[in-house]
Amino acid sequence: MLSNTVLLKKQNSYNMGKKYFGFLILGVLLAGYIYVPLPDNVEEPWKIMLLNTFLKTSSYLALFGEILGLNHFMKLMALFSRIQGFPPTSDENIIVRDTTFNDIPVRIYVPQQKTKSLRRGLFYIHGGGWCFGSNDYYSYDLLSRWTAERLDAVVISTNYRLAPKYHFPVQFEDVYTALKWFLDPQNLESYGVDPGRIGISGDSAGGNLAAAVVQQLLEDPDVKIKLKVQTLIYPALQNFDFDLPSYRENAHYPVLSKSLMVRFWSEYFTTDRSLEKAMLSNQHIPLESSHLFKFVNWSSLLPEKFKKGHIYKTPTHGSSELAKKYTGILDVKASPLLADDSKLRGLPLTYVITCQYDVLRDDGLMYVTRLQKSGVRVIHNHVEGAFHGTLAFLFTKVGYRAANQYINWLHENL
Ligand SMILES: *[C@@H]1O[C@H](CO)[C@@H](O)[C@H](O)[C@H]1NC(C)=O
Repeated sequence: MLSNTVLLKKQNSYNMGKKYFGFLILGVLLAGYIYVPLPDNVEEPWKIMLLNTFLKTSSYLALFGEILGLNHFMKLMALFSRIQGFPPTSDENIIVRDTTFNDIPVRIYVPQQKTKSLRRGLFYIHGGGWCFGSNDYYSYDLLSRWTAERLDAVVISTNYRLAPKYHFPVQFEDVYTALKWFLDPQNLESYGVDPGRIGISGDSAGGNLAAAVVQQLLEDPDVKIKLKVQTLIYPALQNFDFDLPSYRENAHYPVLSKSLMVRFWSEYFTTDRSLEKAMLSNQHIPLESSHLFKFVNWSSLLPEKFKKGHIYKTPTHGSSELAKKYTGILDVKASPLLADDSKLRGLPLTYVITCQYDVLRDDGLMYVTRLQKSGVRVIHNHVEGAFHGTLAFLFTKVGYRAANQYINWLHENL
């Protein structure tokens, strides 16, 4: 009897042991999935790792869905990211509502308090690689709300049609349409906005669109209003060279890998994957357009500190076929860095945010250099220890700090 109990206990503890061993294996696998080695100067690395796990998982699922033929990768990503959507919600300080400007959906933030004087106006363009993102994402909604509150400003946060359903220049044109509608003196008046104190901001693909529409405004005889500032938050500014030091160094860091960014760029123009392939090997710009490389030449445009140890390689020329089919890849409306100096000269006071661990870092750095050389006043905020998208991650200290610096800058300069 006694020996039986002992045996049973032994059996039990053996089973328990097996169970624990199973959990241990599972735990190790899970930790291995979540863990990514991060540079030493990254604050709160575990928050970045959890965020990365979420992004990585949705991108694996989307890739899997695409391979199974369920849907396009970007459409699945857009679907997953819908969980960030947040309805327009007014509070005691700000009235928030959704409306349209000339058929383009926008979300508007107007301070509750009555005032006799005119307010500042800020036009915001969200990111998401021209493929997803929306003005109703919780983080965008929060940032716009804070901006409206702290600046006592009217904030317009625009949407635009997305790839892969719509390609360039639809995104650009939607944003331009909404912006022009807002800048109509009658509309500014109805929102109580001071025409002399209007700014435009955008992050990532939204920073690309912001830079592009601001350039376009300079050439538009219909628009009399001059913007006071533009703020470009880790913007994408060129699709000519994907072999910049920032693409080399940060190709596999969290949030935005090189392969995802290249896919975003190619989806902006077409769903034909042959463009993406050519872009990945940096062989998509035809010989006839090689004179444009000087505008994106990192060897001459990056500050020394960011070139460290990198050797410049002139991009190999691609076939003219791709560029003939997808003319957008050579268009300054897609790559604002392609504008010549005489055009840049007319740009307003500019604030550029770049992040240390971001493939798009050098796009921003090169634009800063080019604007400075053209005599435009530029303030550059390089956020050390930050990854792409940091202002959308307000739950991290570094993102929260950068968002505050951005709003403070607007407060002082808009
Ligand atoms: C890029 O700049 C470097 C150094 O300034 C120069 O040697 C090279 O010829 C340039 N290449 C192109 C394609 O502009």
